[in-house]
Amino acid sequence: MVFKIASHLLLVLLSFIFVPFNSNNSCSNYLSYLFISFSSDCYHNPDVNDNITNIIQRHTNSSETHQVQTEDGYILNLFRIRRENPRGVIFFQHGLFTDARAWVSQYNDSVAFLFWRAGYDVWLGNNRGNLYGKKHVTWKPSDGEFWNYSLLEIGYYDLDASVEYIKSTTSEGKIIYVGVSMGATTGLIYASMRPEASSQSVQIMISIAPCTHFKYADGILKYIVPLSDIMQRYNKYTGIYTLLRNDNLFMKSFRLFHRIFPFKKYLVYLLSFFFGWTPDEMDPNYANLMVSHFGSETSIKIIDHFYQMYYQHRFQAYDYGEVKNMEVYGSKRPFLFPLKKIKLPVYIIYSDSDYLSYYKDNELVYNDLSEEVTIYGKLAVKGLNHVDYLYSKHRNQKLFNKILRLLDSL
Ligand SMILES: *[C@@H]1O[C@H](CO)[C@@H](O)[C@H](O)[C@H]1NC(C)=O
Ligand SMILES: *[C@@H]1O[C@H](CO)[C@@H](O)[C@H](O)[C@H]1NC(C)=O
Ligand SMILES: *[C@@H]1O[C@H](CO)[C@@H](O)[C@H](O)[C@H]1NC(C)=O
Ligand SMILES: *[C@@H]1O[C@H](CO)[C@@H](O)[C@H](O)[C@H]1NC(C)=O
Ligand SMILES: *[C@@H]1O[C@H](CO)[C@@H](O)[C@H](O)[C@H]1NC(C)=O
Repeated sequence: MVFKIASHLLLVLLSFIFVPFNSNNSCSNYLSYLFISFSSDCYHNPDVNDNITNIIQRHTNSSETHQVQTEDGYILNLFRIRRENPRGVIFFQHGLFTDARAWVSQYNDSVAFLFWRAGYDVWLGNNRGNLYGKKHVTWKPSDGEFWNYSLLEIGYYDLDASVEYIKSTTSEGKIIYVGVSMGATTGLIYASMRPEASSQSVQIMISIAPCTHFKYADGILKYIVPLSDIMQRYNKYTGIYTLLRNDNLFMKSFRLFHRIFPFKKYLVYLLSFFFGWTPDEMDPNYANLMVSHFGSETSIKIIDHFYQMYYQHRFQAYDYGEVKNMEVYGSKRPFLFPLKKIKLPVYIIYSDSDYLSYYKDNELVYNDLSEEVTIYGKLAVKGLNHVDYLYSKHRNQKLFNKILRLLDSL
């Protein structure tokens, strides 16, 4: 017994001495990460720390990069996994603090590749400010003005420009929109603020776990977001306009910690405080992929916007305070996003275990939509938290295979 324990400890120790000499960086279960240099459950995953075009190329040989300019001057990269004579054209939009990499961070079983293999021409979008959205015709990311945007501008400008570009480049007719978390939120903003244009360009909007008015949401995020209000108020003086740049000191330290800390399951427990308690869902194969691709810059104004929605329980435009609201919107309170005006079919997906995009909140959103746009109903899944939509073991079975089937039936 003692011998067995001692030999295991020795192996763990050796394993970590060998880490620098060994290229294994992924394991199929959390315990095996302790023996990463020796365990046959571990392997070298070339996607970890690699960039998006290399990843797409590796798995599909079909990577293209396109650039689109928004009406207000931002230049965004769109990544395409081209498919000739496609079954349809599908546009994926990522969530907060990530970018297009989120859809290719599940190795050879990535969400983007699943749809590409099923015959779709796949496009991956990026929000202004993230790793692939750092250009503007006049401003540089070092200018405060570059970061003066809330969820509204992403929905109104970025998504409109991306959708129109994809539609005209592919000329296959209307496109399919899939957004997760903030990508679902901004999708609803786009569809409600541009009801005519969006209904002419988008066939169906699949809205996975939108974050809207947080009436029932929980999780420790609600104690952290108020900070963003203070940071936004004083950014002129501090010069701090953004959070989580991919290569800042915080992200580098976090990645270093993650690389050397052997009990990788800590990540699951850490995430559960923010996103919901589903300790057995997250796929261990993706622990390093997720961390190496996480962290993509966004404006503090976006977080502040979420904070305002969280505390006012209203899915509304950015709140500048009464005086400035009068000037910007012509009313004391910011307007609510007009969900009733949406004209394109919306298919909302949510989970009973998601703290952030809470199922009761989603039922309210669903009821706010007009009957003509909810013709496909909604999908309530069980046992996934807010990150499990992309990283859980059962994501295809619970979610993406069902989406594929729905699209087949259109
Ligand atoms: C990963 O670990 C296995 C298990 O022993 C080992 O055989 C293999 O050589 C390692 N792979 C790499 C790429 O280092
Ligand atoms: C990824 O890296 C390759 C070189 O390995 C480079 O040619 C390519 O432009 C990079 N892509 C992006 C999106 O940075
Ligand atoms: C991509 O092309 C290369 C060279 O032709 C080939 O070796 C590789 O297997 C291809 N990969 C995929 C995913 O089709
Ligand atoms: C991914 O690669 C693994 C290991 O080579 C293989 O077992 C699995 O079937 C692949 N998955 C897909 C979806 O291709
Ligand atoms: C940010 O944009 C808003 C509305 O678009 C504008 O009223 C405000 O003056 C801008 N703030 C800065 C600091 O440029």
